[in-house]
Amino acid sequence: MKKLSILLACLTATLASAPAQTGFSAKDIPAIVKKMTVEEKAAFVVGIKFELPQYEGKYLRGTGGVTYPMERFGVPSIVMMDGPVGLRLYDYETTCFPSGILTAASWDRDVAYTIGTALGEESLDMGNDVLLGPGMNIHRNPLNGRNFEYFSEDPVLSGLLAAAYINGVQSKGVGTSAKHFAANNQETNRLDNDSRLDTRALREIYTKAFELCLRESEPWTVMASYNYLNGTYTQESRDLLSKILRKDFGFKGLVVTDWTGKRNTPKQLNAGSDLLMGGSPDQTEHILQSLKDGSLKMSDLDRAVTKMLELVVKCPSNNGNVRTLKPDLEKHAKLCRERASEGMVLLKNDGVFPAKPARAALYGVYSYAMIQGGNGAGWVNSPYVVSLAEGLENAGIKVDSKLRSLYEAYADFKMKDLKTNHVVNVHVGDPQIPELDLSESLIEASEPDSDIAIITIGRISGEGRDRIHNSEFLIQKEEIKLIKDVCEAYHSAGKKVAVVLNICGPVETASWKKYPDAILCAWLPGEEAGNSVADVITGKVNPSGRLPMTFPMNYIDAKGAENFPYNFVSDRANESVVHPERRGLPLKDLAYTDYIEGIYVGYRYFCTEGKAVSYPFGYGLSYTSFEYSEPVVSIVGDKLTASVKVTNTGSLAGKEAVGLYIKAPLGSFKDKPSRELKEFGKTGLLQPGESQTISFTVPVRQLASFNSEKSRWETAKGGYTAYFGANCEKAEAEASFTLTSARNYPVSRACEPAVR
Ligand code: GLC
Repeated sequence: MKKLSILLACLTATLASAPAQTGFSAKDIPAIVKKMTVEEKAAFVVGIKFELPQYEGKYLRGTGGVTYPMERFGVPSIVMMDGPVGLRLYDYETTCFPSGILTAASWDRDVAYTIGTALGEESLDMGNDVLLGPGMNIHRNPLNGRNFEYFSEDPVLSGLLAAAYINGVQSKGVGTSAKHFAANNQETNRLDNDSRLDTRALREIYTKAFELCLRESEPWTVMASYNYLNGTYTQESRDLLSKILRKDFGFKGLVVTDWTGKRNTPKQLNAGSDLLMGGSPDQTEHILQSLKDGSLKMSDLDRAVTKMLELVVKCPSNNGNVRTLKPDLEKHAKLCRERASEGMVLLKNDGVFPAKPARAALYGVYSYAMIQGGNGAGWVNSPYVVSLAEGLENAGIKVDSKLRSLYEAYADFKMKDLKTNHVVNVHVGDPQIPELDLSESLIEASEPDSDIAIITIGRISGEGRDRIHNSEFLIQKEEIKLIKDVCEAYHSAGKKVAVVLNICGPVETASWKKYPDAILCAWLPGEEAGNSVADVITGKVNPSGRLPMTFPMNYIDAKGAENFPYNFVSDRANESVVHPERRGLPLKDLAYTDYIEGIYVGYRYFCTEGKAVSYPFGYGLSYTSFEYSEPVVSIVGDKLTASVKVTNTGSLAGKEAVGLYIKAPLGSFKDKPSRELKEFGKTGLLQPGESQTISFTVPVRQLASFNSEKSRWETAKGGYTAYFGANCEKAEAEASFTLTSARNYPVSRACEPAVR
């Protein structure tokens, strides 16, 4: 113990000072592993949470962590910072990019890639080695508090966009962490909730996104999630980390645990966790103890040490850190504005947009307190957030100043009030501001001063807490009253009304969408929010976003909706840690969650059941129109090739997102979804009359369903249908093809040729 405490003291002392010029190379690794003492090894694989390096005599305050240096081998400490859409630092401003949910709605790998490159650049500027993103868990339920950080209900859209993001960040020589592996689909009691799901769902949905991500990228790290999976902590699951992730998916990088602190350390290392983050000295002690009592094999520790060295050797901290603490915020703001408009989804447009009215009346507190991003690890200290009012003014549209003063005063007051006087249920970030209850007379008095009315409805959420159905999914009475009163006043004056959804995930829309003339879903668009929305409203950008998840008629319509803590309200600010078993709370959906829906998540359920939804997966309108040619589909060897020509048949330039869905014959399965997304792409900006052919190549293996009994992927012999278009309910074109024989694939990914 004495030896260890001396070692840790000197390591920490090294950490505190600016690290001496270090550097080692990959060829040194075997020798270093051989020469390291067991105490050094035990310290090296345990991180230090939330303590970031010093710079100019001051610790960088933020979240993430650092690792111990091994000075005598020239091995530096490395830095891991949150989060997926921006470096989370409290004393420095960094760019807040659009949330993952908006990137997913772009259906465009290039949006994910370019945001990734900018995040890589800001990571270098801030001295970060590994960016703790992308968050890529499946939207099993629309109320998960971190869905805004993630991508979609579909594993193909999630996995392939995550890969593009990773390739973007890593193109700058900075690492990433694909998180949170796996089946971490709720925030309530997330440290100890047991996700209970069948093997087919695990393979076809919850690990499939990571499998596809690892087919098209090589994240330097994967983050093992907090939760149990079928009774075993993911961080202690050999089946998940060593079998599925490493053997089947071919992952070669390092597994870092989410920030748990000490659990069963030898079990974690034995399972395949390499870096124990949220680390603490008692974990190092536990490692030494476990080696002595035989519960930990030296070979497991050496594997983790080797993975650590293979990570550190790639990091900027080992190759000449360029930390400036001066990111190019102006360049990245421009990128943020452009990319955010690519993911906005036009849900309704009855002759309203594009429009450039002289005067606009903005209603709704979130027209002024616009939400750039969510709370928790994904929160960003950006230099500003452009509100819708500012964005429209910047576009030359005069915003009603009386309404603006009223709402801005209310927003300021309410934000301060909530942050000081209430237990605000946020990890870090902002509370949800309740809507102002405006009188009809005030709305009627304002109407003559504007040409159009725009109402913004906002929803914020974040790490550590799920959204509550009654108060956050449903539209609240002040909001529905505002929509109805504004529509009444402006429609009777022959004027149009639009609603902007500045939201972290789906809200109820079916009951009120008939009232306004237009609805634009802007998600959480990053710091340039109002400018991006204004670019779409005025037609500077033709909206091309498509929904990456279903907007149900009613929350409860989804098959698994009952199996989620959708109205659980705890008295704690942070529901990550609830321990229902100790507090006499029901265990269902808190201590364990049954994924009773299996693979039938989102559109896989609604389309297969033919159940009506408010807006389907892949839905979105454009200011122009497109036509699809007869598609060409064929099986070439072990690949499906498919292509379709898309023509802009409207009068405005625009982009079209194209999905490739496949309907497969049942084969030996008793059920399969009526269609599943297998690839997607997006045209460039097509001028009126212009065409572009979109081509896809899909390994036949990806058409397979998972046979849990035989633990293999099976494609059935027989007739398949390929549907082209993004909207899962409405194919723009279709074609049939046949597999003349069934094809079975072992779970190992080694047999799957990389398609790109
Ligand atoms: C958190 C989050 C994870 C984050 C990490 C470091 O608990 O689950 O996404 O990267 O800890 O802050």
